[in-house]
Amino acid sequence: MNFEKLRKDFPVLRNNKNLVYFDNGATSLKPDCVIENINKYYKECTSNVHRGIHRLSMESSVIYENTHEKVARFINSKKTEVIFTLNSTDSINQVMYFLYTSDYFKKNDKIISSVMEHHANIVPWQFISKKLNLNLEFIEVDSNFKLDLNDFEKKLDESTKLVTITYISNTIGTINPVKEIIKKAHEKNALVLIDASQACPHMKIDFKELDCDFLVFTAHKMLGPTGIGFLIAKESLLEKFNPFRYGGDMIKNVTLEKSEWNKLPLKFEAGTPNIAGAFGAFSAIDYLENIGMDNISKNDSKLLDYLLEKTSSIKNLEVFNPKDSKIQAPILLFNLKGFDPRVVSSLLDEVSDIATRSGTHCAQPIVTRYNPKGLVRASLYFYNTFEEIDKFVETIKVIDKDFR
Ligand code: ALA
Repeated sequence: MNFEKLRKDFPVLRNNKNLVYFDNGATSLKPDCVIENINKYYKECTSNVHRGIHRLSMESSVIYENTHEKVARFINSKKTEVIFTLNSTDSINQVMYFLYTSDYFKKNDKIISSVMEHHANIVPWQFISKKLNLNLEFIEVDSNFKLDLNDFEKKLDESTKLVTITYISNTIGTINPVKEIIKKAHEKNALVLIDASQACPHMKIDFKELDCDFLVFTAHKMLGPTGIGFLIAKESLLEKFNPFRYGGDMIKNVTLEKSEWNKLPLKFEAGTPNIAGAFGAFSAIDYLENIGMDNISKNDSKLLDYLLEKTSSIKNLEVFNPKDSKIQAPILLFNLKGFDPRVVSSLLDEVSDIATRSGTHCAQPIVTRYNPKGLVRASLYFYNTFEEIDKFVETIKVIDKDFR
């Protein structure tokens, strides 16, 4: 696979000749085919889905439905297990609501998460824990930036009703052994939610094989548009839960007295959905499948190995990752000793047009442990190159030498 050749498919790269886009953890760039399919919806077949029997509505409904099928194949779930949401945060909030309204938790039950979570996988659980008097505990991270599995085993007990963990950290980049965690949690009859927001863009994920109960991810980090995300949940659970939103499209029958819910997954998709988003997501997955997720993972390792090797000699560079491409996504979380991380990120942009993110990355609990002021994150994707890494490393050296 010639990854360099794929760069021509990305208009932002064509329109910004010197740009080095290392902010893929925040959102990925979009290839032409995604933008064209969104345009196709607005230019050729604008209509609502599931509501008209005219040609345009039939056409957009078919693509909207096919996108559910596409996501199901991509993740190896049933089509009935794929719910379209706004984003991963929305997906997690919906799970919290499902568990809340189905009286799943009893007082003093335990929820286990980890200290490396994104706020989206902390704050909803804080809310429900307070509301229902639950115990919310967080698995520690060891000095190598890996999840402390001994700590997990210590915390996991008969009162544990939910384990909710990220597959890949959006900051320290660690790839967690989620299969092992899911198995152990199920032995205690706890449900498991996996936040795959940073994982789905980078690796093949098999919902059936993982056997988690909920899996969430978002289109915009994997070449798709913003405003559409996914909640994959076991059918047996979805049958039991109450809908999160009530209104049009999620019903089969309505009288003034009562309503009957639509079949899965429509029961959970009330109101006019993000149809253009579904068109874009379809093309994004198509594009990723043509490359092959395993090819993307292999390329990630090559980029990361090169990045780790090139940065290892910079004395003042502090790195907060496992530094091992077998258990790390292509993310470098770092700072230059003596610098404010925002200054480093601004200088990378000003001096060399390199886009990174600085601050606490919506993961304040973990990032502030390493620096209360936050850190800089360079997050790479398959369209990044070794030459871009060279430019990044050279610029870091210039900042270190000339901007003190
Ligand atoms: N969750 C996104 C990030 O990590 C926004 O940057």
